[in-house]
Amino acid sequence: MCGIVGYIGDKFVDSLLIAGLERLEYRGYDSAGIATLNKGKLRIRKTTGKIQLLKEKLKNSPLGGELGIAHTRWATNGEPTTENAHPLTGCKKSIAVVHNGIIENHIEIQKELIKEGHIFTTDTDTEVIAHLIEKYIDGNLKTAVQKALKRLKGSYALAIVSEKDPDKIVVAKKENSLIIGIGENENFVASDISAISSLTSNIIFLEDGEIGVIEKSKIEIFNGEGKLLNKKIRKLKWQLRRGPRKDGYEHFMLKEIYEQPRIVKSVLKRRVFKNKRGVHFKNIGITPDKLLKVNRLVIQACGTSWHAGWVGKYFLEKYLRLHTEVDFSSEFRYRNPIAGGDTLVMAISQSGETADTLAGIRLAKSKFVQVLSLCNTLESAIDRESDGTVYLYAGPEIGVASTKAYTAELLALFLFTIYWGRIKECISEEEAKNIIEELGKVPYLMKKILDNQKEIIECAEKYYQCSNFLFLGRGFNYPTALEGALKLKEVSYIHAEGYAAGEMKHGPIALIDDNLPVVCIVPKDSVYEKMLNNIREIKARRGKVVAIATEGDEKIKGYVDHVIFIPKIKEEFSPLLTVIPLQLLAYYIAIKRGCNVDQPRNLAKSVTVE
Ligand code: F6R
Repeated sequence: MCGIVGYIGDKFVDSLLIAGLERLEYRGYDSAGIATLNKGKLRIRKTTGKIQLLKEKLKNSPLGGELGIAHTRWATNGEPTTENAHPLTGCKKSIAVVHNGIIENHIEIQKELIKEGHIFTTDTDTEVIAHLIEKYIDGNLKTAVQKALKRLKGSYALAIVSEKDPDKIVVAKKENSLIIGIGENENFVASDISAISSLTSNIIFLEDGEIGVIEKSKIEIFNGEGKLLNKKIRKLKWQLRRGPRKDGYEHFMLKEIYEQPRIVKSVLKRRVFKNKRGVHFKNIGITPDKLLKVNRLVIQACGTSWHAGWVGKYFLEKYLRLHTEVDFSSEFRYRNPIAGGDTLVMAISQSGETADTLAGIRLAKSKFVQVLSLCNTLESAIDRESDGTVYLYAGPEIGVASTKAYTAELLALFLFTIYWGRIKECISEEEAKNIIEELGKVPYLMKKILDNQKEIIECAEKYYQCSNFLFLGRGFNYPTALEGALKLKEVSYIHAEGYAAGEMKHGPIALIDDNLPVVCIVPKDSVYEKMLNNIREIKARRGKVVAIATEGDEKIKGYVDHVIFIPKIKEEFSPLLTVIPLQLLAYYIAIKRGCNVDQPRNLAKSVTVE
């Protein structure tokens, strides 16, 4: 969603903030803005569209100054116009606020402030914060912010500057991440570590209800009652030394699809014992003793990570006979879920910042349920707040549509199941070795798919103008159908539905005509014949079928319009392969339609609002 960066120090504030925004642009990209205090005078530049446009505006007329705050927006309240872009100010234009989150009672506060004479100029919920601070400020920005926060309902990460109390940035947070980076005679503020991790590795994580006052050579953190706190400085476990690069690929999405074989290989190297008879998950925060006591697993996640959870469920049930439920975090968090003493909650998240997933973790913990997360982003909120974390090690994912993180999530689920199965003694050493050997083939098999894309490109060319697609799969590839449909709609804006193939006759079959491409995931597995029955039903209604099938399956050719072959692999690992042609299909269709695949409209990489 939105991103925040702030800086106070001697460096050139415009370029430092723009560089930070560029690192955060994947979070939201409908508008952006920057505010600085230059010799105590507030200056603001804003624009709709990409950071590049803001950069150009600043090139023509830089702001300069001693400190500044900046924001990249993903609209929640109010259209993405220049007026609605942050930073936002009050009537006197002497206070600037950047905000991530949603103020739920803004209408009520706005009405009150309008009665008092305040004039509002935007459609945002954030503007009330600037006016409230303006109302309360008497020379001390921190005290005014403190008073304003007491009025707000909702979620926020805030950075505020004021002409009335210059030389400082005041920050606050509730349910949205805000971090402070400590430098030498300079300090930083950001919503994401990635915005400032190349500049410092000394970080303070602000907690809900805390207020930070950041000066050039001093940082003070207070609790909601104004008591000065002694906060721990954390040393980052990692540093991004350079910004994201496409390394010769036209788009991040394509680069990340191609990265998958290498990631699988390196994760296997990291996790698998040298003798290949087991895997290790050291220091994950949940002990083998605790895992032994678990009889019920609840996986909660969103979007693509939720799809990975479904593959995980099938796998865990098969090998561990473990009762596993998969829930949308946005449902789990509001359902007062049952917490037995033998339950483990597993959160899955690429970004580690997804608001609903984080709320699900907090809810589980409030019921004294242990939470283990699978997460790609070290030191993210989900990583920090879980009892334990299994890192995905997929590297930063920049393309908004998740690709490599999905296969890394699947791999983590497979490997963790082996680890858990060995602890529970329901997977023998021999069985573990067989699974590991099968997984060891995956990088090579993935590469084979990537090396032969002719049929995928032909399908993209043939069907890119269609308005609807259906994706069908069964068993381990039911989630693949969901993921294929999600990828296509995200990047190409084509309406697509993913369905369990057996459910087709209960409704979706009505959609089938000779204009509807139906992508059927039909590898040679235990449900192959069932899938063939479904394909016959589609063909009987003149639907166009694209099959994702196993190499050597000559029979399938007689049933369908196109076949995209994937190499043979054990049924349960096929989702690692079948998804790749679907990622590529979505990519090529989107390119043919002229869509921005890396930054599709209306989406954001980290969904930090609920
Ligand atoms: C789809 C996609 C989203 C995310 C979802 C959860 O391509 O990227 O559906 O999977 O927003 O995000 P994380 O995994 O970061 O919690």
